[in-house]
Amino acid sequence: MKTAFLGKILSGPFTIPSGIVTCAAPIIQKFFDEIPEVGVLTTKSICLEPRLGYREPILHQYSPGCFVNAVGLTNPGARKSAELLGQLDIPKDRFLLISIFGGSIEEYVEVAKILAPVGDGLELNLSCPHAKGYGMAMGQDPDMVRDITAAVKAAVDVPVVPKLTPNVPNFREIAEAAIAGGADALCAINTVGPEKKAQHGHPVLYNEVGGVSGKEILPRALECMHDLSGLDISIIGCGGVSSAANVRKMQTQGADVIGIGSALVGMTTDEIAHYFKVLTKDLEDSTENAEALVQYDVDMDFSPVTLVKNERICDDICILTFDSKVPVKAGEFIFLWVPGLGEKPFSALADDPFSLAVINLGQFTEALMSLEPGTEAYVRGPHGIAISPPVSPTTLNLSFRFSFYFPFSFLYR
Ligand SMILES: Cc1cc2nc3c(=O)[nH]c(=O)nc-3n(C[C@H](O)[C@H](O)[C@H](O)COP(=O)(O)OP(=O)(O)OC[C@H]3O[C@@H](n4cnc5c(N)ncnc54)[C@H](O)[C@@H]3O)c2cc1C
Ligand SMILES: Cc1cc2nc3c(=O)[nH]c(=O)nc-3n(C[C@H](O)[C@H](O)[C@H](O)COP(=O)(O)O)c2cc1C
Repeated sequence: MKTAFLGKILSGPFTIPSGIVTCAAPIIQKFFDEIPEVGVLTTKSICLEPRLGYREPILHQYSPGCFVNAVGLTNPGARKSAELLGQLDIPKDRFLLISIFGGSIEEYVEVAKILAPVGDGLELNLSCPHAKGYGMAMGQDPDMVRDITAAVKAAVDVPVVPKLTPNVPNFREIAEAAIAGGADALCAINTVGPEKKAQHGHPVLYNEVGGVSGKEILPRALECMHDLSGLDISIIGCGGVSSAANVRKMQTQGADVIGIGSALVGMTTDEIAHYFKVLTKDLEDSTENAEALVQYDVDMDFSPVTLVKNERICDDICILTFDSKVPVKAGEFIFLWVPGLGEKPFSALADDPFSLAVINLGQFTEALMSLEPGTEAYVRGPHGIAISPPVSPTTLNLSFRFSFYFPFSFLYR
């Protein structure tokens, strides 16, 4: 499905919006090479200096297909990103859209100058709802949106695409301000919020509040698209799109390129490739098969466990034993969440009762060293691929335990 967009004829009308899947150069190259339906490749948002972002949990599915995230705009900084993105081989019929942000007009301009030479266009993240002083903090003010857009336009010679926040009562006024600043296209919308979502009585995100994406925000995305009607400008439409019916609605409201992000959660790259093929066929044949491929059953829920023993083995290693069984097999891993402290992946030492060995490497594992028995924690998973070591009946127990240790010793010895 050829699509005209900002001076290029693209191999397909889709993009994956910033921050989802296409966050690293090798993955972007794989999409260039293998998934022609995704004509626009959007990077993770990039600022001047490297940014660690928030600690985990950073993403939570609060109902099937509905997510809240506070990643905190993690990125390696403009210079490193330019080096990595500069190595990409961009096909003639694909568009590399580099998402940038800053805490001031000057930072936007400096980042834009560093990254414009390695991409086809710049998306201005004026809309992230959970990073203080960035994104939406600037994108809710029409004058600021106009001035940032104009300053970046004056500094680079590639198309500039402001990405707008839905969290304003005057969405069209903000869009008009972006156009007044010289925008070449618009992207609507970023996540809705910020909102707090809790499980077991605790806000799940480490940052407590985050932006809502996925199925629940489609009505707001369509409303915003409707607000843009009559504006003579190319539009990337995204927010809660998962089916051919959703794509058609976006197109009816004027979207030239359609972004699909949260609907891809849980899919492998091969599954994503298949999904876009089926979706394209749906659009050609007026069928509805793609949405059946969305993994609405992906399990991100937490199960409670209580710590019963914290045994220090040496200065920097302890063994935590919990009160119940967690059905994790050798080769698999789980995420351990202690509200207020954070969440990290761990292999199991044993499944029943569940225990794990912790080596003190940083903030979360340091806190685990002195975790008090009686502490309520939560486990999600298992994830990964179970292995089946060859065993004889006499060595069964020994091998089984060794295989639990193995991923841990492989990673850290
Ligand atoms: C599949 C899997 C299974 C695992 N199983 C186990 C297990 O059984 N037991 C176990 O103890 N651990 C296991 N781990 C590792 C465990 O998750 C880490 O020890 C944990 O992520 C460290 O978290 P932290 O908060 O303590 O450290 P962090 O505070 O995240 O820091 C970790 C280290 O990285 C450095 N660092 C952090 N951020 C940056 C950055 N941006 N740039 C450069 N350096 C940085 C820190 O200085 C520190 O040295 C496993 C990991 C995986 C992926
Ligand atoms: C985990 C995650 C990270 C995101 N990171 C960014 C980002 O760095 N920059 C940005 O402009 N938008 C970011 N977004 C917003 C998406 O680009 C998109 O606008 C939003 O998720 C709506 O689309 P969807 O419902 O199809 O996911 C992020 C969204 C998610 C879920």
